[in-house]
Amino acid sequence: MSSRNVIVFGPTGAVGSITALSAHQAGARVTLAMRDPSKPIPALQNLPIPRVHADLTKPSTLAYAIQSSGARHAFLYIVPGTTDSLKTALITLKSSGIQTIVLLSSFSIENDIHAISRTDFVPYRHAQAEISLMNVFGTNGIAVRPAYFATNALQMRNGVLSGEVRLPNPDAVLDWIVPADVGRVCGCILARGSIGHERVVSLVGAQLMSLRQVVEAICFVVGVDVKVRRIRVEEAVDDVRSMAGLTEAFARWYVDNMMGVRRDISLAPAYKEAVGNIWRYTGRKPITFQEWLGENRKLFEIV
Ligand SMILES: NC(=O)c1ccc[n+]([C@@H]2O[C@H](COP(=O)([O-])OP(=O)(O)OC[C@H]3O[C@@H](n4cnc5c(N)ncnc54)[C@H](OP(=O)(O)O)[C@@H]3O)[C@@H](O)[C@H]2O)c1
Repeated sequence: MSSRNVIVFGPTGAVGSITALSAHQAGARVTLAMRDPSKPIPALQNLPIPRVHADLTKPSTLAYAIQSSGARHAFLYIVPGTTDSLKTALITLKSSGIQTIVLLSSFSIENDIHAISRTDFVPYRHAQAEISLMNVFGTNGIAVRPAYFATNALQMRNGVLSGEVRLPNPDAVLDWIVPADVGRVCGCILARGSIGHERVVSLVGAQLMSLRQVVEAICFVVGVDVKVRRIRVEEAVDDVRSMAGLTEAFARWYVDNMMGVRRDISLAPAYKEAVGNIWRYTGRKPITFQEWLGENRKLFEIV
């Protein structure tokens, strides 16, 4: 059992809620640091876990959260709204008594964190936060880098409901990691430290599936008939821009990477090393996409 005193920033999140739950189950004393402490958290319902107000973009709230909880170990997200890649927040956490950090980063960092181009939007943002982590906490900062979330399948929800999913590369292969598994690994590291003092822990899902196979799995489980239509990259960029209101450069990055035009995730440099890490840290097999879908089929149904 852990005797650590830990704090989880973002415990309402898909990953953060399970991070808090697993640290609690491992015996750690947990505090939930929240922008709105009255917000319900279904995964933590009825558990006697104290809450404190804190906002990672407002460093003045952090010192009180750490002092009142007495926490020495923290989990955090790279949240929108910080202009300095979390540097001020990390400095404040350290000067308030935090000794180790578990940061939710991203497998999209494929190279040296210092060598990622600004136009590689998502890996750049995560790499900059990892640089802040390294500069402030050194080897006491652990970056957890999960690959492609199963929840990203929800981006195809409207297509599923309309009977046609439009994709630039339906054969792109991804790993569909379930956020709860990411949370369980983060919770284990928060409560007990990383295995062998690893500074980066890469994580991938239970099995590789193409986007087309994922649509087929959704059709089977939800009981709908959906056509997959291959579209040109330019059409996909237009679709993303009109749906999400992104800049053209970001939409193009998104289509290339998140919609898999350039993607077979198993070819990523860290893939082999990442396979098995969920088991290594949690002693449990990773949840498969089909199992996640079975639990979440309602998300793809008309409400
Ligand atoms: N999608 C992928 O394929 C993928 C792959 C690799 C890594 N990731 C990483 O995973 C993250 C998403 O994880 P998720 O699905 O668990 O996210 P999520 O469910 O959206 O949760 C985000 C959490 O951050 C909290 N938060 C936001 N702004 C905050 C602030 N200023 N101060 C304190 N807390 C704040 C939110 O709290 P509130 O309740 O206050 O909003 C919420 O608890 C991405 O941002 C990325 O970094 C994603």
